[in-house]
Amino acid sequence: MTYRSPQKTIVLSLIAGAVVVGSYAFSPAPRPGNHENNLKILPKDISDEELMQVMHSFEVALNMNCGDCHTHSATDPNKMDWAADTKHKQTTIEMMKMVQELNKQYFGVDGDFKTNYLQSQYKVSCNTCHNGHEEPNNMVTIPIPEKH
Ligand code: HEC
Ligand code: HEC
Repeated sequence: MTYRSPQKTIVLSLIAGAVVVGSYAFSPAPRPGNHENNLKILPKDISDEELMQVMHSFEVALNMNCGDCHTHSATDPNKMDWAADTKHKQTTIEMMKMVQELNKQYFGVDGDFKTNYLQSQYKVSCNTCHNGHEEPNNMVTIPIPEKH
């Protein structure tokens, strides 16, 4: 059992609450059958609930929607093909690897992505850089008015 400050517990409860509300707002995504499971970083046996927590957190961190990273089925355009790769999905997989790698290399947080990510164990996560934006702010400093 790791120590959590009361503030951190409150923040985590709020986040958990928001995720629960969010997942009710979105009709549960039909999971592709195991033969279609194409997960590369998340564990293949991840529960639907945890998978949706990760997906909703990506939406919030990047201000994106499911359809920005996922595409329709090639055979039935009324359905989504969640397992299919898209440009943004592939970029996201590279970002997940980067998050895993830099937390291990620079902050000594090692181990499974899903657990570290969902339990806010990572020191640097999607939201650290993206902060609700598709493209992170790359300005070196916030402009400070010059003194005359
Ligand atoms: C920022 C991009 C992004 C957003 C937004 C996003 N996803 Fe994903 N999704 C991914 C990535 C990347 C994976 C694969 C992760 C892996 O390989 O470990 C994935 C995997 C999945 C899978 C499992 C596919 C499989 O191979 O079994 C489902 C289902 C899914 N997403 C549904 C959703 C839903 C529903 C939403 C919206 C609530 C959503 N995603 C939003 C990037 C995203
Ligand atoms: C260390 C900072 C950093 C972290 C952490 C980070 N990203 Fe990124 N990400 C970037 C930068 C910078 C870009 C833009 C690169 C460019 O402009 O070509 C980017 C681009 C992206 C894009 C493509 C956006 C577009 O429109 O081209 C996606 C999707 C994305 N990140 C998802 C994620 C997800 C999901 C996570 C967490 C798993 C994550 N990123 C973590 C810095 C970061």
